[in-house]
Amino acid sequence: MIKSDYWDIKPHTQRKLEILEKYLNSWCDIIFSYSKKNPNWKAWQTPYYVDCFSGKGMYHSGTQKNIIKGSPVIAIEKFIEKKKQFESTAGFQINPKIRLIEFNKKYSEELTTFVKPYEIDIDIKIINDDFNDVIASVITEMGTSPAFFFVDAGGIKELKSESVERIVSKKGARDILLNYVVNGQIRIGGLAKSVFDGTYKGDKIEDVFKNIERLEDFTGLSIYDFLEETDNDYKEALLNYVSNVLHANNKLNSPEDRLQTIVYDMKDLKRQKLVYYLLFSSRKSVATDVMKSIFKNSKKKESNQISMFEPNVLEINK
Ligand SMILES: C[S@@+](CC[C@H](N)C(=O)[O-])C[C@H]1O[C@@H](n2cnc3c(N)ncnc32)[C@H](O)[C@@H]1O
Repeated sequence: MIKSDYWDIKPHTQRKLEILEKYLNSWCDIIFSYSKKNPNWKAWQTPYYVDCFSGKGMYHSGTQKNIIKGSPVIAIEKFIEKKKQFESTAGFQINPKIRLIEFNKKYSEELTTFVKPYEIDIDIKIINDDFNDVIASVITEMGTSPAFFFVDAGGIKELKSESVERIVSKKGARDILLNYVVNGQIRIGGLAKSVFDGTYKGDKIEDVFKNIERLEDFTGLSIYDFLEETDNDYKEALLNYVSNVLHANNKLNSPEDRLQTIVYDMKDLKRQKLVYYLLFSSRKSVATDVMKSIFKNSKKKESNQISMFEPNVLEINK
């Protein structure tokens, strides 16, 4: 359940959106230029942006309501800008498709209103449904078109590992930016531990079991394995999430189709607290290099505010 102040923009949300916008800028350049170089690759003329947890499209800032653009609007504007630029310089047509998934009816209605003015310029479809139920059909629709997936669930119970594995096993080019929330896991992990060692004091044990199931759905691991990993350091759990879920298909894929992942730790600077990890996966090192430099620049801005340490971006090759 989303808190009432969720749509008040936070500095770390702004940093996340900046990262998304910068990356999409380069992604469109790369993908659109490939489509021109290889005109027989018809699927490349319809690249997809999928916002798997779209939100309502706009954030509030102080007393000003719906004033800051959220991820779907940022992406739509970027694709329209890049489409127009590319078509006028390359003389070649490109038809990007925007797919926005939002479970909450009220948010999806607001989103519909906010994106309406753009429909004249780009193909947009809003899907008011559960991401876990519809992602397979979105992937079927796109076939081998290149796709960028923004997976910004904001919690763990909404995001099943099997759904992420569907994205990961999509055929062809797929880039994934995934918000890996830390708090929920630690909380649920702690609850689970208290049940297993007999120190749990609450009365609704069924709720705890439901939560444990959700944690298992998210990590794709048994709770025992998860607790073992988090016992040492929850970075270990993150590394295993990457290898079990994001890199799940790597063993089956040919080397040029294997995903590589880089990690950015998103902090709430005021409270000096880790809020989530942003995980970026792509099969192309040119893409991870672009994102690495975007992560580093964002870290530099962040570290200018808090310390003089050189920023560090973790690379996972498991
Ligand atoms: C973190 S917010 C998204 C923010 C948005 N990406 C942005 O940056 O502007 C997560 C959204 O996912 C929606 N949501 C939650 N569970 C969902 C589900 N199972 N399927 C689709 N959407 C869901 C919530 O209603 C909420 O609007």
